[in-house]
Amino acid sequence: MKPFTRLNRFFSRFPLHLAVILMCVLWLIPTLGLFVTSFRTREAVRTTGWWHAFLPQAQTVGQPEYTKYCAACHGADGKKITAADLSSPTLVNQYPSAASLLLMLRKPVNNAPHLLNTPLPSAPTDALNALTPIITYMQTLSGQGGNTGKLSLSNYVDAIVGYKGLQDYLSDCQTGAAAKTGVFNCTAGDLANPAGMGIAMLNTLAVTIPTTLLVIVFAALAAYAFAWLDFKGRQWLFALLIGLQIVPLQMSLVPIAQLYTRLHIQSTFLGIWLFHAGFGLPYAIYLLRNFIGSLPREIFESAYLDGANHWAAFRRLALPLSMPAIASLGIFQFIWVWNDFLVAKIFLSTHPVLTVQITNLIDPRGQNWHILTGAAFLSFLIPMIIFFVFQRSFVHGLLAGSVKG
Ligand code: HEC
Repeated sequence: MKPFTRLNRFFSRFPLHLAVILMCVLWLIPTLGLFVTSFRTREAVRTTGWWHAFLPQAQTVGQPEYTKYCAACHGADGKKITAADLSSPTLVNQYPSAASLLLMLRKPVNNAPHLLNTPLPSAPTDALNALTPIITYMQTLSGQGGNTGKLSLSNYVDAIVGYKGLQDYLSDCQTGAAAKTGVFNCTAGDLANPAGMGIAMLNTLAVTIPTTLLVIVFAALAAYAFAWLDFKGRQWLFALLIGLQIVPLQMSLVPIAQLYTRLHIQSTFLGIWLFHAGFGLPYAIYLLRNFIGSLPREIFESAYLDGANHWAAFRRLALPLSMPAIASLGIFQFIWVWNDFLVAKIFLSTHPVLTVQITNLIDPRGQNWHILTGAAFLSFLIPMIIFFVFQRSFVHGLLAGSVKG
């Protein structure tokens, strides 16, 4: 009898398990893809899918296209014509794309067409398709590697310093191409480049940490007042606080921006702290009030009888006892502000935070999305760490308000 019931239970729950597993896979596969992509080189990202990182590598030595079109004159190792040594990185760097190589090949060499015997296909796209593997091959020759299996941290480095050059920051620093941009000089100073994710990370921290602290301090004080202080109109005030939460944040953007301009705190950290704190507080007060209000009345009453004033009761009783609620509130507040884009875009345009900086890194022609993968993972590195460290408070926070105590 017993084994059957167990089997029955397994099968009755089977659809649920299947659904959960399916959902996890659906969520995780794209994230995994993005994660793997963030470690692949720019060339690899542009030419093959991320799963190629796990496949056995095709031999890039002696690409058939190269042998067909170029080897006759340039030799199998690209070195036969010393005036045009295809294994030199400086030369290869001049042709980052198939289109630029095609442009060069169309120019005659010594008054004769560059490709004398085997002209490239006349349809432009076919020619580009033929040239992409040649570029990859030339890069292999020059030691820059078009090897799609090679993993590196270069996307992260590029994202941190905000480099959008031809190759990656580190190799462009070696060839000297980075210095030509006029922005980078390949010293530690590049970390402070205003277009990079490094500086944006600091900006985000400078927005998030003070805001979270402000919200926690003021919400705890207000929650104590609403729960244990007897003053006139307390219920009405609390109802108003809850009611005003339905006002959407977007409605207040323009009036507050005008106010900030008049107060000269537009695009300052003070302005954005106040804004986030203002919009975080109602919910925070509501959550903490429920928690503090549900603490046993007796302990407060005996404290008052012993002569404790409200300040002492708040500090010695309410605050320590509501630590679990404060912790989960803090985590959620931190992550909300961390992920905010709209408010930061409007009220802190001069100091881009991570979310805003990612949009700045997007190339209008969609050229450099390999950097975006690195940037995306940098931007949720810290929320990720917080999530894993405070997992239990997280679940607690999700249940806060729905379950007492
Ligand atoms: C008919 C012979 C011939 C073939 C085929 C040929 N090249 Fe060349 N290529 C030359 C010669 C000659 C030069 C040197 C020109 C000079 O003196 O500057 C040259 C120069 C170059 C340069 C250097 C241009 C520069 O920046 O000065 C590149 C890059 C190049 N070839 C790429 C290719 C590629 C890629 C192919 C195959 C698709 C190819 N070549 C096929 C003869 C050839």
